Amino acid sequence: MSDLTANRPNPAHRRPIRSYVLREGRLTAAQRRAFDELWPRFGADWRPGTLLDLQALFGNAAPVYLEIGFGNGETLAQMAEANPDRNYLGLEVHRPGIGHLLLELDRRRITTVRVLRHDAQELLRDGLAAGCLAGVFLFFPDPWPKKRHHKRRIVQPEFVTSLARALAPGGLFHAATDWEPYAEHIRAVLETADDLFQNSAGPGQFAPPPEQRPPTKFERRGERLGHRVRDLIYIRR
Ligand SMILES: C[S@@+](CC[C@H](N)C(=O)[O-])C[C@H]1O[C@@H](n2cnc3c(N)ncnc32)[C@H](O)[C@@H]1O
Repeated sequence: MSDLTANRPNPAHRRPIRSYVLREGRLTAAQRRAFDELWPRFGADWRPGTLLDLQALFGNAAPVYLEIGFGNGETLAQMAEANPDRNYLGLEVHRPGIGHLLLELDRRRITTVRVLRHDAQELLRDGLAAGCLAGVFLFFPDPWPKKRHHKRRIVQPEFVTSLARALAPGGLFHAATDWEPYAEHIRAVLETADDLFQNSAGPGQFAPPPEQRPPTKFERRGERLGHRVRDLIYIRR
């Protein structure tokens, strides 16, 4: 009898499913300069296999809020400016967006933001101490609308497990999307984890639009297309 498993890839070597496509895009001259001159001030490094030392990174013990996929970073800069008593860690893989944020942080003289260029799924799973975050923001994540791509959506049960581990009790997970089926997907995944998270708006409800969330670039694009925006706010039990 032939061994049917002989040619199957070893699951340990399977390529991870990424929630993004790396489009390099061109850096402007100012963004290139920002990487040279501002990265040493705002940039963070994480080596897989280690834990990120947040206190050393920020130089203080203020609560840390993580934004996943900050895009051009305008929203992150605005949140940091409005909340100087908080630290913010921004995760993004798209270099032009990171360059844009570096310039914005410098222009606004913000000192409480650090930027990391890495896959958020990996950092959340392996790189953060349990309970180290006060909040996680996920604004307008790539919706991956085609059914065959749904597995690339960042919000999955494993993501929620990592999120629950990294968040302190009482910590917040705030997601927003203009893609109704993705809003329903996020709600379904989070409501299944109701031993870990409490829906701030009540079971099965979307949250009222919160005043403290500045509008994002993708949100404006969604609104131009006539999309309804949904906020989902869950509290770590
Ligand atoms: C649709 S854009 C939204 C950007 C921004 N939040 C906004 O609302 O304007 C999604 C962003 O998430 C980033 N992203 C997707 N998956 C990511 C991951 N696993 N780790 C870090 N960034 C990710 C993408 O590079 C992209 O810039």
